[in-house]
Amino acid sequence: MNLDKITLIGVYIVEKFLVTSALPYANGKLHIGHVAGAYLPADIFVRYNKLKENDVVYVCGTDEHGAPISIKAEAEGVTPLEIVQRYHKSIKNAFNGMGIEFDNFSGTARPPHDKLSQDFFMNLYENNYIKEKVSKQFYCEHDKRYLADRYVEGICPHCGATGARGDQCDTCGKLIDSITLVEPICKLCGHTPIIRETKHWYFQLQKFEKKLKDWIASKDYWKENVHNFISSWLNDGLVERAITRDIDWGVSLPIPDSEGKVLYVWFDAPIGYISATIEWANAIGKPDIWKDYWLDNKAKVIHFLGKDNIPFHAIIWPAMLMGQKENYNLPYDIPANEYLNIQGKKTSTSKNYAIWVDDVLKYFDGELLRYVLAANAPETKDSDFSWQDFQNKINTDLANVLGNLAHRVFSFAKKNFNGELTTPKNIHDYSLNLIKDVKKIMEDIDENFKTYQVRKAVKNIIDIARLGNRYFDEQKPWKSIKENREETEEILFVCSELLRKISILFSPILPKKMLTLRKMLGLSQIPLWKNLCNIPDNFKIADISPLFTKITDEEIEKQIELLNSSIPKSPKEMQHKEFMDIKDFYKNELRVGKVIAAEKVKKSKKLLKLSVKIAGEIRTILSGIAQSYKPDEIVGKNVVVLLNLPPRKMMGMESQGMILSAEEDGKLSLLTVDKEIDSGSEIS
Ligand code: 2FM
Ligand code: ZN
Repeated sequence: MNLDKITLIGVYIVEKFLVTSALPYANGKLHIGHVAGAYLPADIFVRYNKLKENDVVYVCGTDEHGAPISIKAEAEGVTPLEIVQRYHKSIKNAFNGMGIEFDNFSGTARPPHDKLSQDFFMNLYENNYIKEKVSKQFYCEHDKRYLADRYVEGICPHCGATGARGDQCDTCGKLIDSITLVEPICKLCGHTPIIRETKHWYFQLQKFEKKLKDWIASKDYWKENVHNFISSWLNDGLVERAITRDIDWGVSLPIPDSEGKVLYVWFDAPIGYISATIEWANAIGKPDIWKDYWLDNKAKVIHFLGKDNIPFHAIIWPAMLMGQKENYNLPYDIPANEYLNIQGKKTSTSKNYAIWVDDVLKYFDGELLRYVLAANAPETKDSDFSWQDFQNKINTDLANVLGNLAHRVFSFAKKNFNGELTTPKNIHDYSLNLIKDVKKIMEDIDENFKTYQVRKAVKNIIDIARLGNRYFDEQKPWKSIKENREETEEILFVCSELLRKISILFSPILPKKMLTLRKMLGLSQIPLWKNLCNIPDNFKIADISPLFTKITDEEIEKQIELLNSSIPKSPKEMQHKEFMDIKDFYKNELRVGKVIAAEKVKKSKKLLKLSVKIAGEIRTILSGIAQSYKPDEIVGKNVVVLLNLPPRKMMGMESQGMILSAEEDGKLSLLTVDKEIDSGSEIS
């Protein structure tokens, strides 16, 4: 029949993909920002490719080493393994509830992973890409230990942001050599650490600079945000990176004289992608098949992640692969997403400002959340999740548009045709035109899924349902049934066909709901892309029920209340420090200073350069208050200055002291004196 003329995608070439999502740290629960960034986009891409009968393997697992896990274990007085097992389970359950389906969900504390990571190290070592060097490290005399990575925090030496960790600054994204942190603090006890020498092994990243630059330049199809994020790294020039740490939780080094050292978590974590694939190959009884994905260059390795992970995947990990003896596939693509804010504010796990997946699943079907996160994915810029928008999207797009189309078509067909619809003998132009319009949209959807543009794909699919509703309204089957059954059947058949197409197109995003829809349409439970244009001869509508129910205002108010109540309220939780000797306090030389000039520091969002008069002396002080004060708001103030700090370099300038301030929710308030008083007056 004429509908057959409208064919879609012709010949398929089977593609081979190894898809990964960033391994979540096994030290906390999963929140919806994680899901929107690295997991749902990957799961949708994988489901789409499986629908197209491509050969896809999707692996992930928990990132089980590193300072955050040992810090948590120490804080709770349990072993790191206990922490790892607890959160591995919690994260896995959250993924299950969200319908994120991996071929294997592994973990990096498993012995085969240790062995592979050691092999990676040895290969680089033997190829002269690793050098041993004695270097300076923060050491806490109170805790008697070196402070690796997240064990120390301070001000970022690159951008001046507070709360930068010893390994990376989340504000500017740059990696930090921890001893360059300004005003460092031991995370365990709050003391200021000292600097001591220790031996470490350094990955000679600079040796790959040319090769990496050429390789990255060839990736003209990568997302713009990915290229933007790494350009400053490449422009600044690559430098060697320490890949060992002084902690006792991690992969031990496969070389002599390395007691007490483990591989840096960011060295072993990406190797977890390969060990998870090997584990999968063993589990399916084909131990060598992992090589088809990692060593055969016909396969494309695609890493999904959030933007903070971009430099590791676009620079360090490819260099680690380039330095191996084996010819591993380099990442084919790195579709990184931006961040998801919550009700207009940044997610903050430390302030418990997050929407946890397990909490949502207590109230709503995970597929509803999949829909909203897909429709609002932070693909090119940060996006915002609000509960009002959640309600609006479900009630409008899913219930009023798609659910309504299914309901009105199916109930009409049941009532008037006993649910049996056969191919129309004659088809009107208005029906053919609709099918043609939908064909165009389907081509866009195909392209959008292929290029990780899920937001657009969602909109396209809902547009098809909207066209269906409009066609139904315009053709008025409730009128035509009185005079022309054949025409009425055509209307219902065409609408059912649209719903059948939607049941395939939407299955990467709403897999369970689309199976329910297919069941109502009397179709097989396996949707395949190639069947998009294989229009069946007839439909036998089965038992029907509403596909989506609307979300009430009360349900949404409850969620907003829960979110707000999860943020700790005053009285603030305080972590008290130990008692100290008053003599120690008097070591601080604190004096009143008058700010006589202030200006912004170029290229820094946080720093102001102040000229502070202290009696007859004028000192230059760089202070991280630019987001709380404009320069002219601070001139003339009598502030409290700590004078006997050694001068420190920041942004190429020397700071000769520190002014004191109090902090609330990231906003700073300067300490000033109560009366007009001479500058230089001592404070005690
Ligand atoms: O940022 C994170 O959560 C890291 N655990 C991601 C690791 S990705 C990979 F390399 F394993
Ligand atoms: Zn300490």
